[in-house]
Amino acid sequence: MENVLELRNLTVIIQDNRIINNISLTIKKGHITGMIGGSGSGKTTLIRTILNIQLPESIKIEGNIFIKNEIATDENRRYVQPVFQDPGSYFNPRWNLRQCLEEALNLSISIPKENKIKTLLNEFSIPEKYLNQNIRLFSGGELQRISLIRAILCNPEVLLMDEPVSGLDPLIQKDAIKLISELNLNKKISIFLISHDIDFIAGLCDFIYVIHNGEIVEENSVNEILKNPSHEYTKLLLKSRNLSNLKN
Ligand SMILES: Nc1ncnc2c1ncn2[C@@H]1O[C@H](COP(=O)(O)OP(=O)(O)O)[C@@H](O)[C@H]1O
Ligand SMILES: [Mg+2]
Repeated sequence: MENVLELRNLTVIIQDNRIINNISLTIKKGHITGMIGGSGSGKTTLIRTILNIQLPESIKIEGNIFIKNEIATDENRRYVQPVFQDPGSYFNPRWNLRQCLEEALNLSISIPKENKIKTLLNEFSIPEKYLNQNIRLFSGGELQRISLIRAILCNPEVLLMDEPVSGLDPLIQKDAIKLISELNLNKKISIFLISHDIDFIAGLCDFIYVIHNGEIVEENSVNEILKNPSHEYTKLLLKSRNLSNLKN
């Protein structure tokens, strides 16, 4: 099966700290692959390294990133699009919705423009009449859907989603989960889903990597991870999840 994204022995060093340590993983075409890890484990740094954005100057990167089985370049990185943890801070606050989405079209090679934007707005329940509204006036759930529309406009092969539902209220989280699985099924987009929330990851993914202190400490099918976790950190994650389930 084709790999849309592959990391081979990736190490990221920032100011003498190994933030990512020798990570290898594959994102298979058509799949939703998960990564779970606590705060500070290196998830966002990993995403930024794959995308080659928002990295400090003093960074040292070792190992390889492959996109569709070729070494990552500025050119083939367009197949890999992010859906941001905090879309509100990504978009230019002076822009209206139309400008935010057109920026995505400029990034991509094909220019389907207006019609494609309108179809997607409709699909994601954002009324067309809001195209001229300032981006700051949209709610968290709307911004998250707008962030998805922006990514889809770039015709991606794979979406990198860094904590896509944190900060959204539970009902909107449920909608987002439905949207993510529909995107994967209907548009055949592969997804790399990253979160600290094991229930969210387990509900959507078939295969999970567990990251701890910048290293992959365990990788397995969802069922195995839930039934037979092998690493102490994974056991701890599952234990804290059972505790919070009891509280609910
Ligand atoms: N630009 C940076 N300069 C120095 N340290 C950084 C930088 N970016 C991330 N880190 C450090 O890398 C570690 C991992 O952070 P991050 O990738 O944001 O983790 P996560 O997304 O899993 O919470 C943290 O200890 C963080 O302080
Ligand atoms: Mg993060």
